[in-house]
Amino acid sequence: MKVLVTGGAGFIGSHVVDAYLAAGHQVAVVDNLARGHRDYVNSSARLYEIDLRAQHLRDVFEREQPEVVNHHAAQASVVASVADPRTDADVNVLGTLHLLTLCAQHRVRRVVFASTGGAIYGEPQDLPAKEDHPATPLSPYGISKLAGESYVRYFQGAGVTWAILRYANVYGPRQDPHGEAGVIAIFAAAMLEGRAPTIFGDGTQTRDFVFVEDVARANLLATAGPTSGLANIGTGVETSVNDVARHLATLSGFRGKALHAAPRPGEVYRISIDPSRAAHWLGWTPTTPLVDGLRKTVEWCRSTR
Ligand SMILES: NC(=O)c1ccc[n+]([C@@H]2O[C@H](COP(=O)([O-])OP(=O)(O)OC[C@H]3O[C@@H](n4cnc5c(N)ncnc54)[C@H](O)[C@@H]3O)[C@@H](O)[C@H]2O)c1
Repeated sequence: MKVLVTGGAGFIGSHVVDAYLAAGHQVAVVDNLARGHRDYVNSSARLYEIDLRAQHLRDVFEREQPEVVNHHAAQASVVASVADPRTDADVNVLGTLHLLTLCAQHRVRRVVFASTGGAIYGEPQDLPAKEDHPATPLSPYGISKLAGESYVRYFQGAGVTWAILRYANVYGPRQDPHGEAGVIAIFAAAMLEGRAPTIFGDGTQTRDFVFVEDVARANLLATAGPTSGLANIGTGVETSVNDVARHLATLSGFRGKALHAAPRPGEVYRISIDPSRAAHWLGWTPTTPLVDGLRKTVEWCRSTR
């Protein structure tokens, strides 16, 4: 199958590209390299260095004639969205709308959309949150992703089937250790350099950490379709930031103490998302235990130093 992956030079998108190629698909990548890396793009995929919002994105569709579009390109940071909500909406809403319009015009059969389970449900009372929990995002990022979901659904009317995957906190090799998102990559890199990581708040806040290779597998299953649907892609398990820091200290050999700073606006306190719908609909369950995924991440960080 011919697949176009947007954001395929980024952290998750590059693993999705690898998974498609390993399954025998033909892959083209669209990425403006704002956050992505040319060398993360598998050499068997064709990279177009283009912004989602650029008019000449149309040329890529004309040349590649993709059957499936897997949409990972985004402004993906909660903190950046709070600082600059307009740019967040420009990329995540208008960029997504532009892409979907081209999908409809070029008879794309299916769209797989990377959404968020961590930033769309607000602060749920009952955890793990299910897909039918009211969508009450606390950040501009959560709002723009929710708008992206609505546009994806809207284009079903133009014949494009869809799969929306609401990710928990994805972690693993290639996550940016220098950004402000991705606590595991940031802590692992700091500890390997012998620097104390900074925990925002007291560290009792929880996240649902899902390993990136499990997420890439979910994308393959969601591509097979044909039914449209939405599912959480997480583990359903809450892990505190303090626990993650402890595991990473053991794996990296760090003996110091973490620093603490004020909690950051827009971020939820506790979250985990229920993956049972993904099990029924896609036959997907997460298989990588946290400590194994953390070990692979620390090994990758070590190899890139
Ligand atoms: N990392 C997570 O835990 C997580 C959780 C939920 C959802 N997501 C979603 O998964 C997707 C990938 O996230 P990631 O963590 O890999 O982030 P990332 O920043 O590593 O990847 C995003 C990619 O999109 C590219 N990009 C950004 N703006 C673009 C534009 N205007 N035109 C073309 N390319 C552009 C970047 O260069 C980058 O390569 C995003 O849609 C994000 O919202 C991520």
